Amino acid sequence: MDELQKKSVQLYRLKSNESNKTTIAGRFENHTGTEEHIWNDLKTKISPPNSAKVLDIGCGAGELALILAKESRSLDWKTTFLDIPEIISKLKSQLDAEGFQFEPAVFPYCEDFLNNNKRNFDLIIAYSVIHYTSEPQSFIDAAFDLLADNGQLIIGDLPNVNKKGRFLSSSLGREVEAKYRNTTIDKLPAYKDQFDFIKQEKCMNSKICDDLVMNNISKYRELGHEAHILYQSPALPFSYTREDLVITKR
Ligand SMILES: C[S@@+](CC[C@H](N)C(=O)[O-])C[C@H]1O[C@@H](n2cnc3c(N)ncnc32)[C@H](O)[C@@H]1O
Repeated sequence: MDELQKKSVQLYRLKSNESNKTTIAGRFENHTGTEEHIWNDLKTKISPPNSAKVLDIGCGAGELALILAKESRSLDWKTTFLDIPEIISKLKSQLDAEGFQFEPAVFPYCEDFLNNNKRNFDLIIAYSVIHYTSEPQSFIDAAFDLLADNGQLIIGDLPNVNKKGRFLSSSLGREVEAKYRNTTIDKLPAYKDQFDFIKQEKCMNSKICDDLVMNNISKYRELGHEAHILYQSPALPFSYTREDLVITKR
């Protein structure tokens, strides 16, 4: 497991004691209620078959996982929730676990699960998760191997550093950021362009970038599959700076 991933595991171990169903999933308190919008947005991007086998990687123990559980029951999906052990225990305590599978693991460092589930899932969701690893390509490739034919992998809510840099160096971005930070535009750091932002930015995972997204679109299309980068509905918490990568196995 890489260092960034170890830190993330520690962070979410601590978060597993939280009771707020929005902040436990890494969102801010003022994002409470936005999970319904996130799910509705996701639903426009996926088309699983009836009785689909679904895997949620980094499911969390918040509102989004609970919505997926509810939807799974009503749509007869066979859903597996995967996250670190503490989060899986927390999730189990929040829902009627009957009919669901739970996998306490750090993906893709879970060899038995990977070996036993090749070509098994019709839909794999990893929402707001991939930036916790320094090896996003291994994460994507391992998840892709678990897809059945025509299965879809949605790597959602990618905090793409280029996208954030483009936004924060634009006039709209500066206006929105000033309001969000309750300050004036002249007090914000000024970025010449996206590359200047990336040079100065210290907190984001710089591997989650245009190259990662574009390379995966080329790679999976060249292999004969479908791959798209999709924008998020403006009702979503980080829609200006995040996007979703969807790969469909053919
Ligand atoms: C920001 S939360 C998102 C939770 C949920 N997907 C949502 O959007 O509400 C990130 C979650 O991913 C989990 N996580 C991070 N890296 C992971 C990995 N490599 N394998 C499994 N879970 C992981 C964390 O434990 C945490 O629960």
